[in-house]
Amino acid sequence: MRVVVTGAAGFIGSHLAQALAAVGHEVLAVDARSRGACPANLAELARTGITVTDCDLATADLAPLADADAVLHLAGRPGVRTSFGAGAADTERDNVTATARLLDACAATRPRFVLASSSSVYGDADRPCTEDDPIDPRSPYARSKSDAEDLARRAGGDVVILRYFSVYGPRQRPDMAFHRFIEAALDGSPAPLYGDGGQSRSFTFVGDVVDATIRAATAPLPAGTILNVGHPVTVRLRDALDRIGTLLGTPPPLVPKDPAPGDVTRTWAGTARAATVLGWTATTDLDEGLTRQIAWHEQQRREKDREKDREKDRQDSRPRQGSEGADRG
Ligand SMILES: NC(=O)c1ccc[n+]([C@@H]2O[C@H](COP(=O)([O-])OP(=O)(O)OC[C@H]3O[C@@H](n4cnc5c(N)ncnc54)[C@H](O)[C@@H]3O)[C@@H](O)[C@H]2O)c1
Repeated sequence: MRVVVTGAAGFIGSHLAQALAAVGHEVLAVDARSRGACPANLAELARTGITVTDCDLATADLAPLADADAVLHLAGRPGVRTSFGAGAADTERDNVTATARLLDACAATRPRFVLASSSSVYGDADRPCTEDDPIDPRSPYARSKSDAEDLARRAGGDVVILRYFSVYGPRQRPDMAFHRFIEAALDGSPAPLYGDGGQSRSFTFVGDVVDATIRAATAPLPAGTILNVGHPVTVRLRDALDRIGTLLGTPPPLVPKDPAPGDVTRTWAGTARAATVLGWTATTDLDEGLTRQIAWHEQQRREKDREKDREKDRQDSRPRQGSEGADRG
């Protein structure tokens, strides 16, 4: 299959592109990489033979992306907190305008179009959310995702909408909670904790999310199908913090902050539909997923230390300024 992955330099998109390539699909990986995509992700993709084409979906000519069996649209601007105020326009541009343009480009060829949406569209959950529940977006980010869903459904092609729930694992974005907490525990510098830690999430391991997304790219599904992609167990942030502390042997130092605007008290994935139509359920439990994310942070730190050593060796082997003149004199 020829598959386009947008947002391929990002946290989830980079894993997805690699997993698709590993099972033999032809992957066209695109991202607005010149806007500052994660260099470590790009290097990791290059190591496995994947080159990411620079393409800003909000401005570029998207016709070349329409020639595909499936378009997996993960590009976007995630983040609830940063979508308020000055961030609202960028959120609209990268989540709504970019999606509208990509759908438009695909209108004639009608590939399977998988849209990465978000659990944030549900608002607060007092029980597992099902895909037919009314939505209640409480931030510009959540609204941008529900607007993108509307656009995709109205476009009328072979569209599947995946609502991802708090994804974590290796390469997690630095602004995300587990990333901040693990780094804080590893180097002892405090991370902000917004609210009292009582908020709960259906934390979902990135490998499970990739598995669901690949299944959604090929499964026979009615156009417009919406699927929750989340772990069925909801975990309090405070409990996840305890697990991180236990796994690392030291609790992350924290700076208490006011609850973030738009932050809901609980997300909770109802997963019956994904189990029925994709044969998919998240199988990675929190301890296993956190262990794998921690191993990645440790490996990144070792890599940075080695790079520092190499840089020092380079500096040491350069002739000192003025020393040549002194020798000659
Ligand atoms: N990480 C989560 O917990 C989570 C939860 C729900 C939904 N999602 C959605 O899943 C998708 C991937 O999330 P992620 O955590 O990997 O984010 P990420 O920021 O790591 O990756 C997104 C990528 O999209 C690219 N991008 C942004 N605007 C673009 C544009 N206009 N044109 C081309 N590329 C553009 C960015 O450069 C980035 O590399 C996003 O759409 C996000 O909203 C993520």
